[in-house]
Amino acid sequence: MAALDMTSDHSSEDREEHESKIVACNSNSVLGTRPVNMSFPRQPGDDVFMSEVLRTLHMTDLARPQFERLWPTLLMTLTLPGADQANAVLAPMLLAEDTGAEDMTVRYLDQDIFGQSHPAIVWLRQCCHKAVLDYAAELNMSYRPEFDIQGWANVNRRGDYHNLHNHPHSWLSGTYYVQVPNQSPASRNRSDLNPGEISFFDPRPQANMNAVRDDGQFNPEYRRLPMPGELFLWPSFLHHLVHPNLVDEPRVSISFNVVLKRKVL
Ligand SMILES: [Fe+2]
Repeated sequence: MAALDMTSDHSSEDREEHESKIVACNSNSVLGTRPVNMSFPRQPGDDVFMSEVLRTLHMTDLARPQFERLWPTLLMTLTLPGADQANAVLAPMLLAEDTGAEDMTVRYLDQDIFGQSHPAIVWLRQCCHKAVLDYAAELNMSYRPEFDIQGWANVNRRGDYHNLHNHPHSWLSGTYYVQVPNQSPASRNRSDLNPGEISFFDPRPQANMNAVRDDGQFNPEYRRLPMPGELFLWPSFLHHLVHPNLVDEPRVSISFNVVLKRKVL
């Protein structure tokens, strides 16, 4: 690879201006050049130093950069085996509970659905437990966490929604979808409605202010219509909301919080 030639077809003034820009670019770069005082005038010897750098620089000399993805937000989704059979039982059971209990969905902290012994609930509890361990494995945790899971049922009838929120005092939070009605029959008077969908929001405040076209991380909202039988799991700090149900068929789900008990070394 030939060395860069910065000397041809340039006046000495042009070259000096160009070299100044190179100095500025490289002041903290992988080239390992000495720290450069960004406030001119330059120090004696800088011209000689830069001439030597430019004469000997090969682009292949650049150190290999290292990249780290800091503070990623892990959203886990999976479809549970046996979901069709379980949902056929869970949907009427939870709808009956909702009919007989005032504010069942709102008073979620009063509930402990995983304390029930119904086989469909036991099945779901075991699936959630396994999902949490898989989530921990993806995090490369060096120990097997011990945790409690507190769950509650959600029934969103026509017009119901969940406003923007997160789940304090928990490590992970999740939702299992029992019944997600098709929203296509809903009458919509505007095009930006997303009935029945769940939205998650970028936990980095105002990070989208640096939006760059084709940067896959700048959209502050991730929105999705869950499928019945799917389980979502995410860090509890993550803000999310559920858009209104606009059809008569209820949207039914079971949400839960994962609370760590203690670290097992
Ligand atoms: Fe939630």
